[in-house]
Amino acid sequence: MRTSSVRCLLAAMSALCITLVSCAPKPEAPTGEKKGLLVGFSQIGAESGWRTAETKSIREEAEKRGITLRFSDAQQKQVNQVTALNAFIAEGVDAIILAPVVKDGWEPMLKKARDAKIPVILVDRGVTVSDDSLYTTLIAADFVEEGRLAGEWLAKKTGGKCNIVELQGTPGADPAIERKKGFDEAIAKYPGMKIIRSQSGDFTRTNGKEVMEAFLKVDASNIQAVYAHNDDMGLGAIQAIREAGLKPGTDILVVSIDGEKDAFQAMVDGSLNATVECNPLLGPAAFDAVEAALAGKPLPKKTVVKSTLYDQSQAAEAIGGRKY
Ligand code: AHR
Repeated sequence: MRTSSVRCLLAAMSALCITLVSCAPKPEAPTGEKKGLLVGFSQIGAESGWRTAETKSIREEAEKRGITLRFSDAQQKQVNQVTALNAFIAEGVDAIILAPVVKDGWEPMLKKARDAKIPVILVDRGVTVSDDSLYTTLIAADFVEEGRLAGEWLAKKTGGKCNIVELQGTPGADPAIERKKGFDEAIAKYPGMKIIRSQSGDFTRTNGKEVMEAFLKVDASNIQAVYAHNDDMGLGAIQAIREAGLKPGTDILVVSIDGEKDAFQAMVDGSLNATVECNPLLGPAAFDAVEAALAGKPLPKKTVVKSTLYDQSQAAEAIGGRKY
């Protein structure tokens, strides 16, 4: 073969090699190495200690797994959550974690996420939709059960006789609706237990205190117990009771939900009588769900996070182990 023909053949072979190399599939990431997921988290706000603990858990877990988190605080407004979800979809996140402030009004947004093939993991609160395939999974407590536990505890403590004032959560929110339902169901068995006043304190300590002050102004001598849909409102009510010259936990019983460390301290101090623990440390479960969804693994429609009631008799021993 002539030298020029050999040169041509070598050049053609090397061009072919370059083509083959550049078309070869990219090497897989070594086992155990994260591919660098991008996840959007639309959080309700920072209305309670519980909420702050949930945010921390999700942020920490994302960092631990090498996942980039886009975090958005909706300041208790659904409209802000819709804006956040639109931004997440426009950016092309791999998955969305949503803690929905209210139950209704999510269908159009969830349809948009589904059209974009982005799985939506609901944490802590549920939604009402005609088609539950619009979200991937829900990780939350059984709020009806929590209300029931609070109601049954109060019935036992008072022998089924007491006038109650209720501090409700955010109107339209899953825990506000369900915790009311469970409590109402429990006390319905006791004709001597009556809710004499009920109003929203929006899950905040400030509003809980304000609403309780208003209740005390008109009815102080008639109130024997407070049922607060979360600890922060319960702790606000305790302040109001004290400022009205009464002894919280003795003159007026207080039962709430969440199980925050502050609530355990109030039980140790004698001002709060009982709280139902509702675990906010949902980061690990939320990202397990994200990773399973992206790997195409089946997930249950709901994972129930266990809730447990604690009263003053258990508070001193349990307070040391509180993580939030
Ligand atoms: O959805 C859970 C509730 O929301 C918690 O009880 C409350 O503290 C929070 O704001």
